[in-house]
Amino acid sequence: MINVDQTSKERAERLFGSREIEAFEVGTTRGLQKIHEYLFGELYDFAGQIRKKDISKGGFRFASCLYLKESLQKIDKMPESTFEQIVAKYVEMNIAHPFMEGNGRSMRIWLDLILKKNLMQCVDWIKIDKADYLNAMQRSPVNDLEIRELLRAALTNKIDDREVFMKGVEQSYYYEEVDFYKQ
Ligand SMILES: Nc1ncnc2c1ncn2[C@@H]1O[C@H](COP(=O)(O)OP(=O)(O)OP(=O)(O)O)[C@@H](O)[C@H]1O
Ligand SMILES: [Mg+2]
Repeated sequence: MINVDQTSKERAERLFGSREIEAFEVGTTRGLQKIHEYLFGELYDFAGQIRKKDISKGGFRFASCLYLKESLQKIDKMPESTFEQIVAKYVEMNIAHPFMEGNGRSMRIWLDLILKKNLMQCVDWIKIDKADYLNAMQRSPVNDLEIRELLRAALTNKIDDREVFMKGVEQSYYYEEVDFYKQ
């Protein structure tokens, strides 16, 4: 039997220095869908597909399917010139939560591509504790201060460093929690 998480993680690791990662559109829903498809293609039947069901997590209801398309179009247009703008965009994309599963893992790569392109920086995920990250993300729809400061403290200029990338993938997949959406 295929281990979905392990297979997906190996794919994420393969992205380092690859042509595939260069080809992803940066800062758009389309780009995020490509990342999701790359990580979860054939593992999930909804890989790369915008969800058609409403979902919630920890009592928080992500964007309703009725408005998801509109909301994603607005997010695509959000600016990404400053660190604050990029975090605001990331938080909005998390509220949209376009996929049934795998949002966190694909969105962390999406965020790094935006940071790399616009600020020549990325997140050194190993510096962000799992519980702190999840708490800050849970808080983020109401107040994005915590996640902004966690991400800021973990920024690095080592955007082409193999070790930072690989440890980042490891950490990102370690954040992942086995859970089922309430629908
Ligand atoms: N209560 C919440 N409110 C807002 N965002 C949340 C909440 N709980 C989790 N999140 C965010 O959603 C992500 C999980 O979404 P999802 O399960 O689709 O992604 P994943 O890749 O499967 O898992 P993970 O992000 O844990 O690796 C978390 O990483 C976090 O960023
Ligand atoms: Mg999950």
